[in-house]
Amino acid sequence: MPLRSSRWYSGQDRNSYIHRAWMRRGLPETAFDGDRPHIAIANTASDLTPCNSHLDEVADSVKQGVWAAGGVPLNLPVVSLGETNVRPTAMLWRNLAAMATEEMLRANPIDGVVLLGGCDKTIPSLLMAAASVDLPAVVVPGGPMLTGHFRGVPLGCGTDVWRLSEEVRAGTLSREAFLRSESSMIRSRGHCNTMGTASTMACMAEALGMTLPGTAGTPAPDSRLLERSHDSGRLAVELVRRDLRPSQVMTRGSFLNAIVTLAAIGGSTNAVVHLLAIAGRLGVELELDDFDRTGRGVPLLVDLQPAGRHLMDDLFRAGGLTAVLKEVADLLDPAALTVTGGPLVDHLADAEIWDETVIRRRADPLLPEAGIAVLRGNLAPDGAVIKPAAASPELLNHRGRAVVFDSVEDLNARLDSPDLDVDETSVLVLRGCGPKGYPGMPELGNLPLPAKLLAKGVRDMVRISDARMSGTAYGTVVLHTAPEAAAGGPLARVRTGDIIVLDVAARRLDVDVPAAELAARELVVNGHAAPSRGWERLYVDHVMQADKGADLDFLTGSSGDAVGRESH
Ligand code: FES
Repeated sequence: MPLRSSRWYSGQDRNSYIHRAWMRRGLPETAFDGDRPHIAIANTASDLTPCNSHLDEVADSVKQGVWAAGGVPLNLPVVSLGETNVRPTAMLWRNLAAMATEEMLRANPIDGVVLLGGCDKTIPSLLMAAASVDLPAVVVPGGPMLTGHFRGVPLGCGTDVWRLSEEVRAGTLSREAFLRSESSMIRSRGHCNTMGTASTMACMAEALGMTLPGTAGTPAPDSRLLERSHDSGRLAVELVRRDLRPSQVMTRGSFLNAIVTLAAIGGSTNAVVHLLAIAGRLGVELELDDFDRTGRGVPLLVDLQPAGRHLMDDLFRAGGLTAVLKEVADLLDPAALTVTGGPLVDHLADAEIWDETVIRRRADPLLPEAGIAVLRGNLAPDGAVIKPAAASPELLNHRGRAVVFDSVEDLNARLDSPDLDVDETSVLVLRGCGPKGYPGMPELGNLPLPAKLLAKGVRDMVRISDARMSGTAYGTVVLHTAPEAAAGGPLARVRTGDIIVLDVAARRLDVDVPAAELAARELVVNGHAAPSRGWERLYVDHVMQADKGADLDFLTGSSGDAVGRESH
């Protein structure tokens, strides 16, 4: 079959002349002979996305691989999202990044793509884009940073920021010591080294079959990452020649494999919204309850922060993701393919566990059940999620009095007030932080504890919101409550003093208020003016709820790689 790029380059007319002439700039004549796949390198390198700032070097290795396999590599900088920098929250821009990348992949004369991501939203947006265009694609995750130490103790990015800042608020750590830890937190290039969202999504890309098996979790400074990048460049050329597309790789079986993986690694709750959004782009049937059904009974095997002790370079040293997957191979769909063309399970035979304190054997798990639980009830008719592995076991069945905050500003204004009527049995409720309400569904769900309770030694409470939570965070935190308050969900009808009932074993989340009384209450929606223009306006008008992946309603379903007419 003729290459897609030949539609730009192979003719004898004026348009073909223009396409070739402007692309010459050092490319050999043979670049346009119709036999060399043109491979875009969708590159999220940016100095303002510090976790991805090394990706130009990764791109160079990919380029070498593409050339070596007879292809033509083409760097394509795409929208990049630095989780720590982008305001008001990187999640507001995930769909924008996905949409812009999708359109540039489709609009350009390319045959396949290598996707370079790392920081939290970058791999999800790249996969959403690739799923929509459905050109042959392979992911190279940029890899985690090396472990930094402070006072002889390893620091987990994110997780230890939350822990240390709570210690400052509790008065058990000086602000000076806290600030001294700052320069130790980020030891090298790469993304956060906990099992946060970036590490989780790299593992999800591999479990979905979209990386060369054994690549996810390779530390960013490790020379083996460049080797894998070279190999991935070569593979991208082969994928075009074999016409193996994301829709053949990312099937329902692959998504269920990803859910098993998510539980076994103790991955981030953010993977739920990202996997739902990617599946939506492919038209793969995946629903919130699949996470509970498929993840239930999967043991937690990886002892990494925030659910455990170690960090990502420990996981790599201990055998990496393939060693984890080998332990749960019987739970994986044997037919689900990877970009190699073979099933994922066929790539696990050589995997070994080298350190059983980091990767536990199936017979000796950290927890017997680690799946994300999906809750329903009169407070979450369309579902909410909780990660029991990161929660306090004694709070998983809890009845307590709601203390409600209408917005993050309300929370910040009142949380530490000595007058706040709260105790350790209370349930903190935050609303106005969903996809439409904030807008952008920020990572505010692990709301801090009131200072007066911290001072008493309280370190966890039940918290409920329509927000997300950082993958590096922990606690008994109910997230993604749908519909959100701003969409008229029951969270908008809860009042301080109501009794909230959380029963994770029964998968229930309810407010103990008679249905008629709840329905008669006025909705409380925070008073932010609706955005009047630009992306925010488009987003608020079209974003779906968390149980649908918080994608825009008109972006579901693939539109393929066909381009419209052109004229010069
Ligand atoms: Fe980029 Fe954590 S801030 S991965």
